[in-house]
Amino acid sequence: MKNVKEFLAEEGQAHLLRYFDELSDAGKEDFLRQVRQIDWKVIRALHGEGRWSHGSVAPIEGLSLAQIEERKAEYEKVGVAALKSGKVAAVLLAGGMGTRLGSSAPKGTFDIGVTRPLYIFQQLIENLKETCRACGADIPLLVMTSERNDDQTRVFFREHGFFGYPSDMVRFFVQDMAPCVDFNGKVFLEEKGRIALSPNGNGGWYSSLVRAGLLNDPILKHAEWFNVFAVDNVLQRIADPAFVGATILSEKKCGAKAVKKVAPEERVGVLCLDDGKPSIIEYYELSPETANLRRADGELIYRYGVILNYLFHAETLQKIASENIPVHVVKKKIPYLGNDGRPVSPETENGYKFETLILDLVRLMGDCLPYEVDREKEFAPVKNRTGTDSVDTARALLEKNGVKL
Ligand code: UTP
Repeated sequence: MKNVKEFLAEEGQAHLLRYFDELSDAGKEDFLRQVRQIDWKVIRALHGEGRWSHGSVAPIEGLSLAQIEERKAEYEKVGVAALKSGKVAAVLLAGGMGTRLGSSAPKGTFDIGVTRPLYIFQQLIENLKETCRACGADIPLLVMTSERNDDQTRVFFREHGFFGYPSDMVRFFVQDMAPCVDFNGKVFLEEKGRIALSPNGNGGWYSSLVRAGLLNDPILKHAEWFNVFAVDNVLQRIADPAFVGATILSEKKCGAKAVKKVAPEERVGVLCLDDGKPSIIEYYELSPETANLRRADGELIYRYGVILNYLFHAETLQKIASENIPVHVVKKKIPYLGNDGRPVSPETENGYKFETLILDLVRLMGDCLPYEVDREKEFAPVKNRTGTDSVDTARALLEKNGVKL
């Protein structure tokens, strides 16, 4: 305990011990466990440590829809062979808080059905089963959860019989958590014996998977690639054979599905080269002049908007695992324990959360194949209740693609 006291004092976080003496023995033990588990380094990001700055930005060459169509059979053949021999594992990122959707339940348990229940997880499993049928093999599925939604997610899958997917091909793993701080960098308490934590962003998926010991799991024995995707795109093609085949044949270490931007100002991260390295530049980082640049045929030069569906080469991930990925500081509303010992739910942003982002991994991979997909067929994100990227827009796109709601 003495060490913890000293440690917290050195970190400028001694206030976290305010209620320690009031805790039960089990509560004290649990509190100390939290202190040991936290990655305290992330707080340094408040002072700009580890931030990446952009260098000279240039366009990146990728595969257009037409180019893919031309070689589709060849790509599919290579992809199916890889999937059949267990070389590809699917990684479902489901550790987010889904705050914009306004439900505290895991996003994947959200029902997007109209005349029948159709849960987001269910729709994703249906999409995955389609690939399994096409290639005659079951694909390992790794589901990343967070401490906040892990139990609920596992129970949900069990209660629904894994939506007909073989449960012995599914693994769950919990992502790491990061502390939440006020604007002065002081970590919040959420309860007297509980430090305020939030999931550390989707960039930590690989380190969390390694920490969970999954690399030694027999279902990943032959895995050479990870297809990582977001929970909220209900039109997601998972372990898409043509995408897998095209990436393998390109001899690149990473592939990224992308949609063509509809307008220069569309709010989507754009694939490009940054000082010669493949990178994703957020829409607000791209100057309007650059975003508006067009080729002679009128096509936008910076046109590949990412949809969070990547294929990563496993061996390369292992090589870069020790490299630092930048920590992003995000302003959020953070519930906390007030000075009077009562819980406070702030109406406005009152502090920062720390997140690493999967898009930064692309840069560390060294090279990347942008792979264009048709947004009407593959991109229906459920981010908000209504408006853009919402339950309504996703439903309309599902119907367009023949899904009964
Ligand atoms: P988003 O960036 O949309 O975040 O996540 P979110 O937490 O789901 O939603 P908001 O912003 O609170 O409304 C993109 C993908 O990354 C996953 C999400 O589950 C989603 O699949 N993710 C995000 C994680 O797995 N862990 C995280 O810490 C953050």
